[in-house]
Amino acid sequence: MSSQYERWDQVYRKYPPEALPWELGRPRKVLVDLVESGKVKPGKALDICCGMGTNALYMAEKGFQVQGIDISPKATEYAREKAEKAGAEISFSVENAVYLPFADEQFDFVFDMGCFHHISVEERERFLRGVHRLLKPGSKYLVVCFSYRNGPAWNHFTKEQLIGYFSPQFKIEQTEHFSSVEGDGAVRFFWSVLMEKGWHIH
Ligand SMILES: C[S@@+](CC[C@H](N)C(=O)[O-])C[C@H]1O[C@@H](n2cnc3c(N)ncnc32)[C@H](O)[C@@H]1O
Repeated sequence: MSSQYERWDQVYRKYPPEALPWELGRPRKVLVDLVESGKVKPGKALDICCGMGTNALYMAEKGFQVQGIDISPKATEYAREKAEKAGAEISFSVENAVYLPFADEQFDFVFDMGCFHHISVEERERFLRGVHRLLKPGSKYLVVCFSYRNGPAWNHFTKEQLIGYFSPQFKIEQTEHFSSVEGDGAVRFFWSVLMEKGWHIH
């Protein structure tokens, strides 16, 4: 495991699941809405920074073939237990999302709830190149990340900043700003950005 990302495993070991603000115990509405809309069809999906696998399990139940990765061994252990209990076949592995080990152009969908916004500023471009590389042309990438409305911070974004990061590689199809009552009862503001990997060669 590497550098500043190590602390995540300590968090999962220190706190029970119900104390984790992002772990709602149910799939994210933004994901459910997207799948229900039919804009993303069942196929091979990567839940990048999957945490305890709640969203991965939802996708598996909807017919996706899901790979979940997280830097935290403890989180992936929880995720495996959850999938096993539900009788779902999901592959979970411990990986750093900045160094994705998968072959090129093999995923139909990448779901990113709170991954991009936790990648260090210096590694953001590398991370995005990795996501782009493993998506099939014409497939989708959904990012859910913190908004500037939560107050100034290195990983609280304006729409313009997000467009600056994503538009060089992806075609942005939809952006939405919304609030959510998180697991700790606090209201937080998020952006969701739905993107497509184009067919042209970079
Ligand atoms: C805010 S949580 C979101 C978890 C999950 N996506 C969800 O919605 O419940 C962020 C997750 O990112 C993971 N993470 C942070 N940095 C990572 C990295 N470089 N590579 C892989 N996972 C990482 C953490 O361990 C944590 O599970």
